Amino acid sequence: EAGRRRQRLLDLNRDAARFYYQMLQQPEGRAVQEYLDRRKIRRATAVNFGLGASLDAWDALILAMTKKGYTKSELLEAGLAVQNRNGGLYDKFRNRLIFPVIDVRGDVVAFGGRVLDKSEPKYMNSQETPVYSKRRVLYGLNLAKKSKRSNIILCEGNIDVVTLHQAGFDNAVASMGTALTVEQTRLLSRFTKELVLCYDNDNAGKIATERALEILNNSEFSVKVLQLPRRRTEDGELVKQDADDFIKLQGKDAFEALLTGSENGIEFRMAQVAGKYDLSSDEARVAYCEEVSALLAALANPVEREIYTTRAAETAKITPEVMRLEVQRAFKRRL
Ligand code: CTP
Ligand code: MN
Ligand code: MN
Ligand code: MN
Ligand code: MN
Repeated sequence: EAGRRRQRLLDLNRDAARFYYQMLQQPEGRAVQEYLDRRKIRRATAVNFGLGASLDAWDALILAMTKKGYTKSELLEAGLAVQNRNGGLYDKFRNRLIFPVIDVRGDVVAFGGRVLDKSEPKYMNSQETPVYSKRRVLYGLNLAKKSKRSNIILCEGNIDVVTLHQAGFDNAVASMGTALTVEQTRLLSRFTKELVLCYDNDNAGKIATERALEILNNSEFSVKVLQLPRRRTEDGELVKQDADDFIKLQGKDAFEALLTGSENGIEFRMAQVAGKYDLSSDEARVAYCEEVSALLAALANPVEREIYTTRAAETAKITPEVMRLEVQRAFKRRL
């Protein structure tokens, strides 16, 4: 029945994770080991995350798992094998760095695999299975839940989590490129009431931050936004960075400083709105007030609302009284 089938898939996932892990220690895993070296991921870190290597072959995993007694249909159901047009199976993950995805109970529920070069797709992930529901899992939470730090850092990618842990931020987790879900916030609330959003500083990361703030708005969490600076190249060009890039270039003390200085959610959103307008023009000030008042009207805590209404008034160079009226109007529009 369903319970036994689930257990069978979990066993298969665990055995597959062991296989990938062992391959990384073998001569066949050298390409992946060299990739980890290039990304400055140390051996102990790789062990801590159970990282592995899928080989440059069509059926290495399938052969090993069939030998252990798993069937073709189990391999397909787990998403570890793919069927070709002739009905034959081949390994889904080939020649990739393997990240086992482990849930808070310690079960291996899925895998992510990164290519070792610039080819596409950069990441392959397990599809949804009877033991894997994307929206209910956060990468790294199995480790982050044991952290002594009071908050949890939410970032985008697998490598961000691995690098952050390696640098001593063992409270990092990732939503693996997708938007934060309500189910994930419920899971997080079992371990902390303080979140720090640390998405990539490109446009996609900004949008993901806004989405996460909407989901977390008026929740029980205290939420901060850690904004990674853009990096200036030697040619003076500004390029995007993520947590992994930043730590590799600037080091962990610089990251700790950003963490300490991170803004709360409303400050971040107000800065985003202010950034859209050239506040030296009167029309822009009017538009700014209108847009920012909608954010302020959504704040449930009246003290918070008062503090940030005053701050918005300063930004727009109008009196706090007028800004308060604007917020009241925005509040009525919401009803
Ligand atoms: N992702 C994915 N499929 C892709 C690209 C990304 O599933 N084709 C997920 C991965 O979990 C990835 C996360 O989204 O870690 C964030 O994407 P991105 O920022 O593009 O990748 P990085 O984590 O920065 O990966 P890397 O540093 O290895 O390039
Ligand atoms: Mn080496
Ligand atoms: Mn990204
Ligand atoms: Mn990256
Ligand atoms: Mn990234």
